[in-house]
Order: sequence, then C-alpha cells, then structure tokens
Amino acid sequence: MKICVIGTGYVGLVTGTCLAETGNTVICVDNDKSKILSLKNGVIPIYEPELEEFVKKNIKEKRLTFTTDIQEGVNPSQIIFICVSTPPRADGSADLSFVENVARSIALYMNEYKIIIDKSTVPVETGQRVEETIKRQLKDKNIEFDVVSNPEFLREGSAIHDSMKPDRIVIGVSSQKAADILTRLYEPFQAKIIITNIKSAEIIKHASNSFLATKISFINEVSRICELSGANIEEVALGMGLDPRIGRQFLQTGIGYGGSCFPKDVSAFIKISEELGYDFKILKAVEKVNAEQIEFFIKKIEKTLWIIKDKKITVWGLAFKPDTDDMRNAPSIQIIEALVKDGAEIHAYDPVAMEKARSVLPEDVVFHDDIYSSLQGSEALVIATEWEDFKNADLDRVMALMEQPIVVDGRNIFDPSLMKEKGFMYTSIGR
Ligand SMILES: NC(=O)c1ccc[n+]([C@@H]2O[C@H](COP(=O)([O-])OP(=O)(O)OC[C@H]3O[C@@H](n4cnc5c(N)ncnc54)[C@H](O)[C@@H]3O)[C@@H](O)[C@H]2O)c1
Repeated sequence: MKICVIGTGYVGLVTGTCLAETGNTVICVDNDKSKILSLKNGVIPIYEPELEEFVKKNIKEKRLTFTTDIQEGVNPSQIIFICVSTPPRADGSADLSFVENVARSIALYMNEYKIIIDKSTVPVETGQRVEETIKRQLKDKNIEFDVVSNPEFLREGSAIHDSMKPDRIVIGVSSQKAADILTRLYEPFQAKIIITNIKSAEIIKHASNSFLATKISFINEVSRICELSGANIEEVALGMGLDPRIGRQFLQTGIGYGGSCFPKDVSAFIKISEELGYDFKILKAVEKVNAEQIEFFIKKIEKTLWIIKDKKITVWGLAFKPDTDDMRNAPSIQIIEALVKDGAEIHAYDPVAMEKARSVLPEDVVFHDDIYSSLQGSEALVIATEWEDFKNADLDRVMALMEQPIVVDGRNIFDPSLMKEKGFMYTSIGR
C-alpha cells in the first residue's frame, strides 16, 4: 500500500519505518527541514534502539523516503497518518493546532479517496473535528474520505519492538471500507486488532496512559507509607504484583513519571473530562502525588547533604527514562535546577541524552563523557534514571573516586545492604 506519514518524530518515524519494513511504500513528511535533510542522509535525529538499521535498510530498498512537501506525500498515498505533536497548553488542554493545520493541508491536496488516520494522542472528539475541518476545506470538491483514530502505544526505548510486535492495535472507525483496508495493512504484525468507534479509540489512549500514571502515583504513595512505617517497598510491590489482577509492571517506585506523554496526557484527560462536564477526581490526585514525589526526592537530597552550597554533586541519568535521549519533562531537569539554585556544582552523565540535555539544563552543569570521570571528587551521587550501565557500575571504583561516599538513589537500583557493606551512605525510596 502507499502510505504517507505526516510528522516524522518518535512516533511518525517509527510508524513509517515499520510499515515500510512490512512491504509498504512510505513517504514521511515533516516541516522541520533540518530533520528531513539528515534523514535523507541516513542520519537519525533521535536515539532509539534498532531504529537506525531499520531506517537505512528501508531507504536502501526504496520503500522509505522523506520530504518536506506535504503535497508530494498526500497525492500518491491512499493512507495518511497524522503523527504531529499535541503539546500541552498553559491550561493543561492539548494544543491541537498542529493537527488542524495538517488536516487542512491534507484536504488541499486530496485528489481521490483517502483514509486519514490520527495517530497523535488527542482528546475524544478530535476525529470528528478533523472530519469537519477536511469537509470544510474540500468545499464543493466531491472526494470521499474516512477519518480513523489509531492511537499509538509504543514506548520510547523499545519503540521498534513495540511497533513490530504490538500487544494490541486499536482502530477506531465509522466505515467498513476503512476497517477492512486497515485490517489488511496491519495483518503482517500478527497482533490482536480491536475495531471500535472513533471516540472509544481516542479514549482508550488517554485512559491507558492515565491508568499507568495512576499505578505509578499509587506505588509512590505506598512507598511513603513504607518509609514512615519501616516496611520495604520492593517487597511490598513484589507481593502485590504477583497477583495477576495487579501485575508487576509499573509498580516501581521512584521520582515520579516524566516524559513527553504521561504528564500531558493526564492533564489533557482531566481537561477534556471537565469540558464534557465531569470532574476526574482520581486523575487530579495522580498529578498532585506526582508533583509531590519529585519535591520529596529533592528534599531527601537536601536532608542527606544538609548544606548544598558549593558541594560537588554528580547526577547519573538525564533522560526521562533509560534507553532514550528524550529530555522532555525529564525529572533530572527539576532536580538539577533545584540543586543549582541551592548553589551546588553539578557534574552530569547520561549514556545517550547529553547532547539534548545541554540545551535544557542550566549553563554551568559540567557534562562528562565517561561514567566514572563524573565522580572524581564528588560529595554525593544522585541517581535520576535507571540505566543498565548504572546498575552494573563497579562500586569499588565509585567508592574510590568519590570524596564522600554518599548515594541518593531515586530509582532504587542498588541493594541497600550491599551498599552498606561497601561503606556507602545510601538512601533510596521507600525502604
Ligand atoms: N513519543 C512517544 O513515546 C509517544 C507514544 C505514543 C503516542 N505519542 C503521541 O504521538 C504524537 C507525536 O509524538 P512524538 O513524540 O512523535 O512527537 P515529536 O515532537 O517527536 O514529533 C512530531 C513531529 O511533527 C512535526 N510537525 C509538527 N507540525 C507539522 C506540520 N504541520 N507538518 C509536518 N510536520 C509537522 C514536528 O516537526 C516533529 O518532527 C503526540 O501526540 C504524542 O502524544 C507519542
């Protein structure tokens, strides 16, 4: 099939590449000229395991091309994916201006029947708005089209795996023709396909992310009770998670959720609920707990170190989670800003996110190319992301390099008794 993907970011690039991998001809469009130029040269603008080899292979086999010209993408394609950003507005609602913009451009260049798929995460009723926008823009041109909601569930850090082997594919449609074409498109992925109406598909995405965020805030609250009572959150989470109705995943306590999705999707879900006349009470609490959790962690660092001013503090982990270079809403930003404000000298290390981190972190942060050089003379190590490299660090070397063997671990990556045995003053979350 001939496919156009508009918005070549984390979602668009991965979606386009995986659809090319399964034999389709895909043209990816983006209005960011430098991004398209580097992709044309085989340079991938984001870090995502396996993505580079998949992109290069499909460019070479001529199934994947890139352009800044939306007309070049829309004209020959029967299926058009909208994968542009839907950032939060100041009031928490989703900014849908990119989606509207693209919907208008699609209508402008439509020449025959097209399926327009919304893959960006959007509030319920966006599909209807997209349809109205296209109809208005088409004016009296008599061209058939279907709007579909096909939310994306990939996780950064395992995006190719998640897209090639999805645990479900949700297709929200109002026409049998579009449902049939998309079922065929997704056949090679051998996943459970769920056909719903458009509004249900839109809510499935918001509700899924909000539920996962709820799990995180819930376990973070339980961890506070563990700390206050002397219980151990890791034991509690294991004992809870082995119940299949609860599940092990997303029961890791830490410093709260960040990234480009959960914070904005939770607040957009609260906002659309409000607009529809419902007060989503649980989600408001989820947001509040998440904001408090990182403040609690910053206080923990301050309490452990007593005086922050002029102390040399190392921060390991800058990306919002491991295996990505995405710095959007990374907890490390808030932590480092608070410590810098208190007068600390910050030395930072992340296996892949340092280039992106440089543009968002305070100017005087010192970046290190090597995990161990970041520790030289350090008076405390703060762990903000649970990269495997950190879990496997040589603790004797860490101890030898540090001026003071103090570790404040926001991700519970080390065993407290081992750390004590090695001579560290170690503090973590909920244990
Ligand atoms: N990143 C994730 O893990 C993830 C997962 C599931 C869903 N989503 C959702 O998918 C959407 C995209 O997220 P992302 O992380 O890929 O964002 P992104 O910022 O990485 O990519 C969006 C791209 O759209 C481009 N763009 C914006 N307006 C455009 C226009 N008018 N024409 C052409 N290109 C345009 C931008 O230049 C950018 O490259 C969001 O709604 C997000 O919530 C993201």
